[in-house]
Amino acid sequence: MTDNHILLSVQDLKVYFRSADACARAVDGVSFDVRKKETVCLVGESGCGKTVSALSILGLVATPPGEIQGGRIVFAGQNLLELSENEMQKIRGNHIAMVFQEPLTSLNPVFTIEDQISEAVRIHKKIETESLHEKCIRLLKDVGISDPEQRLEDYPHQLSGGQRQRVMIAMALACDPDLIIADEPTTALDVTVQAQILELFGAIQTKQSMSILYITHDLGVVAAIADRVYVMYAGMIAEQGKTEHIFRNARHPYTQGLLASLPSLSKRGKRLYSIPGAVPDPAYKPAGCPFHPRCPHKAPSCHTEYPNMCDYGQGHLARCPILFQDKGRHI
Ligand SMILES: Nc1ncnc2c1ncn2[C@@H]1O[C@H](COP(=O)(O)OP(=O)(O)OP(=O)(O)O)[C@@H](O)[C@H]1O
Ligand SMILES: [Mg+2]
Repeated sequence: MTDNHILLSVQDLKVYFRSADACARAVDGVSFDVRKKETVCLVGESGCGKTVSALSILGLVATPPGEIQGGRIVFAGQNLLELSENEMQKIRGNHIAMVFQEPLTSLNPVFTIEDQISEAVRIHKKIETESLHEKCIRLLKDVGISDPEQRLEDYPHQLSGGQRQRVMIAMALACDPDLIIADEPTTALDVTVQAQILELFGAIQTKQSMSILYITHDLGVVAAIADRVYVMYAGMIAEQGKTEHIFRNARHPYTQGLLASLPSLSKRGKRLYSIPGAVPDPAYKPAGCPFHPRCPHKAPSCHTEYPNMCDYGQGHLARCPILFQDKGRHI
């Protein structure tokens, strides 16, 4: 069945990094969709392959050492993995824009904010009714920067971390993309500013009807903004579904562990839970289910068999055939 509302469909993507003596399977058969006007979160611990997945969509994985080993990335009906670098350049910025974690490293310290936003606007198309300067002011207003005239003359170091991240978002919005990929854009910010940036993403999605693929390790962020969520572990999707289903009824032991590690008022004074062990090195993943060494529910088969996806209905899937054996439909 085809779904006309799907804007981006990543299908069985495999991205490996080869070195002289090992092959790191960083992304190992990952599939996810982003529909039009939807905010989707990709969540998981450090090293599970979130950034590599995002960079693959934009054709930004350095090859070598990286290698797209298989899969398709279908955006607006075309497989991006088959496009030339020239064609990809048109997609980047015009149709898909990316906002990275650390705006100081993405902004050029020797140019003013106006220089950098103008550059982003100029590269990307379109006959404008407003002048470049007017457009820069409007973009800064759109992302909630006060006194935009003054800010345009500033250099990046003169802005706060939150303002710099807003500038990065303004640059991403400059060309009216269909999809914004945001890779941990708030991790370097304090919680108040973090909340403001999340609110801004919410406003952008509603007002400009863009799709957002938001990458985070923080389930709190997921709860705040995502329509749907994909939980990633060791290069695979462990669980996926509507945000409320994942929070109310997590079916994968990894998701359950992440939820149990969330701080809350009711856990005040008690020791916070953390999932024992660590994410495996993608070059030396255990056989069977990659989560089994850390899993409190593992069965003998988990040591040897790669787990199937189990379908719990309404788009809620979990890659664990053990925990709810009777309830899910194995696919
Ligand atoms: N250029 C590279 N060469 C070799 N290995 C790489 C390269 N880039 C990424 N990897 C490996 O791929 C795995 C996934 O990395 P990735 O950056 O996607 O993780 P992540 O989920 O984004 O983590 P984080 O939350 O820390 O940003 C890691 O083990 C990483 O070491
Ligand atoms: Mg990352």
